[in-house]
Amino acid sequence: MELDVGDVGQAVSTGTLPGWDRVEELVAAAWHRNRDLRAGEVADYIPILAEVDPELFGVCVAEVDGGIHLAGDADHPFSIQSISKAFVYALVCDAVGHQVVLDRVGVDNTGLPFNSVMAVELNDGHPRNPMVNAGALATTALVPGATPAAKWTFIQDGLARFAGRPLPLDEQVYASEAATNQRNRAIARLLESYGRIDTDPLAVVDVYTRQCALLVSARDLAVMGATLADGGVNPVTGERVVAASVCQDTLAVLAASGLYERSGEWLYEIGVPGKSGVAGGIVTVAPGKAGIGTFSPRLDGAGNSVRGQRATAYLSRALGLNVFASDVRTPDGRSST
Ligand code: DON
Repeated sequence: MELDVGDVGQAVSTGTLPGWDRVEELVAAAWHRNRDLRAGEVADYIPILAEVDPELFGVCVAEVDGGIHLAGDADHPFSIQSISKAFVYALVCDAVGHQVVLDRVGVDNTGLPFNSVMAVELNDGHPRNPMVNAGALATTALVPGATPAAKWTFIQDGLARFAGRPLPLDEQVYASEAATNQRNRAIARLLESYGRIDTDPLAVVDVYTRQCALLVSARDLAVMGATLADGGVNPVTGERVVAASVCQDTLAVLAASGLYERSGEWLYEIGVPGKSGVAGGIVTVAPGKAGIGTFSPRLDGAGNSVRGQRATAYLSRALGLNVFASDVRTPDGRSST
């Protein structure tokens, strides 16, 4: 997609954000310049998601020092959906270890849509990465806990620690998806047939469906992202949620697959790891600097929020977040710009 960022320029990655007032200004600008954009469609394959007000639009930047910058509907609640995959993955890596998750789930992009059955078949039952539904189901199956209820408690508590507050379940979203998630049930059965899930696959789908129905805001996503940007410590609560090495693993996975088959394009244009969800959220993580949360329900063909991508592209450029951007050094070691 074309990402019009106007004449904001390309600020390079410096290791620090600009000053407080400049970040405030840019967050407001990211919202203002995209608020009239109407491109994209609201998701309707989960029936209740089609009832959302498509005009909602919120942007939030959470700095790793705990500072918060808000614009628009940044406190409006919506279901986290696929963005939960990133944080459940981090919690599972922290609990069971890098190698177990790598072997069982993988880290490579499938190049296919997030709910592809064909991707599982093409890879002999290996999900390939934890951000597509097959890999997310395989990851949720690895969550510690003897019962589905225990696994659910682990996930709900863990995501709350990332957000720094309890995250309620949207019962209506859960019920709507539970009644229409035959495809995820089929994927879980397929994984079971390949030996990739060794507990009750339908119980795994139920826990996964619940994790997707947790309510967050753009502010929550920004704080959750800032926790991954801050070596695993929530910058608002000060609590360590996961190990720093887990953040690194998670961000690498997001860079490869966070925006599904559009992940390469996202990385090329925006240059920082991100994760989208079909309710319209996107979380973006600038390591050592900040988390960005956006919410706008109209999606592109791959299921990624259109205004969210634009706002994030603008902020990445203007705040100097792109991890691939560098500058010529002067002989005294300072940046030439
Ligand atoms: O499993 C599903 O299809 C949804 N609960 C989540 C999908 C999703 O968010 C894809 N994101 N863009």
